[in-house]
Amino acid sequence: MNHFLDIHTTDAADLRSMIDTARAMKTARAGLPKGTPDADQPLKGRMVALIFEKPSTRTRVSFDVGARQLGAETMVLSGKEMQLGHGETIADTARVLSRYVDLIMIRTFEEQTLLEMAEHATVPVINGLTNRTHPCQIMADVLTYEEHRGPIAGRKVVWSGDGNNVCASFLHAAGQFGFDFTFTGPPTLDPEAAWLDFARSKGVRAEIVRDPALAFEGADLVVTDTWVSMHDPESAKERRHNQLRAYQVNEALMAHAKPDALFMHCLPAHRNDEATSAVMDGPHSVIFDEAENRLHAQKAVMRWCLGV
Ligand code: CP
Repeated sequence: MNHFLDIHTTDAADLRSMIDTARAMKTARAGLPKGTPDADQPLKGRMVALIFEKPSTRTRVSFDVGARQLGAETMVLSGKEMQLGHGETIADTARVLSRYVDLIMIRTFEEQTLLEMAEHATVPVINGLTNRTHPCQIMADVLTYEEHRGPIAGRKVVWSGDGNNVCASFLHAAGQFGFDFTFTGPPTLDPEAAWLDFARSKGVRAEIVRDPALAFEGADLVVTDTWVSMHDPESAKERRHNQLRAYQVNEALMAHAKPDALFMHCLPAHRNDEATSAVMDGPHSVIFDEAENRLHAQKAVMRWCLGV
C-alpha cells in the first residue's frame, strides 16, 4: 500500500513511472468523450472518498472524473459536514473510512491532519493540498512541461511571487526530477529553507534571486500562484499586494525568459494581480493544459497507490 503524501517523500523512480503512465493514459483516450471509461478498468469495484476541508474546483472534479474513468465509484465529502468537523478525531475517522473505501484523498489545512490520516488509515491516502504542500499539482505541471518541451531534467524553472505550498512542492520536484529552480520574491515570503536544501541535496541548483528581471533570464518555465493563499488571512491582502507587485508576471518580465519559455499557474488566478491576462492568454501560457493534466496525473497517482 502506497500513500502519496509528498513529492520529496516518494521514490524518484516511482514519480517518473507515474508521469510516464499518465502520459500514456492521456494518449490512449485522446478524442474520446469525457465520460468514456478507460479501456483498462484497474479501479473497477473500488470505492474512492474525496474529502475537502477547503474549497476546490480542479482537484475535486479531476479526482472524481479520473477515478470514474478508471472504473471506481466515488464520493465527495465536505469536512464540515462530517463528524471530523465536529470533534471526531482524525485517527478514528481514518479507521472508520478504511472499513468503507479503498482510497482516501484529503484536502486539508494542517499537514498534521494529513499525516495522522495516513498513519491510522489502512488504505492509501493522497495529499490533495495542505497549507504546506500540493504534490498532485506539481505532478500535473511536470507532465505538462514534458508534453510540450520534452524532459524537464536540466531545465530552469523560475517561481515568481509567494513561496507558498505549491512552490514547496515545485522545489521537491526540482530535486526528484533534476531541474534547477529559482525563486524570486520578497524575503518575507521565501520558501522554507529546508525545501531549498532538499533540492540542493539532490544536486540541482536551488537559488533565491531578488531582482525578478535577473531571475527570469534563461528561464525555460515561469510559474506563479495567487498572492493570497486559502489559508492566509484576508487582512494580509493589502500588504501582500504591496510586497508582490514587482513580481507580477507580465510581458516585460517574460521577455527576459527564453523565447520558447512556458508559463504555468495552478489556478484559480486573480487576473492582472500575480499575472497579466496578456501572459495568461498569451503564447507562452499552457495553463489550461496544466489544469487538464490534473486529471491524467492523478489517475496515475491513484493506480500507483493501489498498485494496479
Ligand atoms: N489548483 C488547484 O488545486 O485548484 P483547486 O483549488 O480548484 O482544486
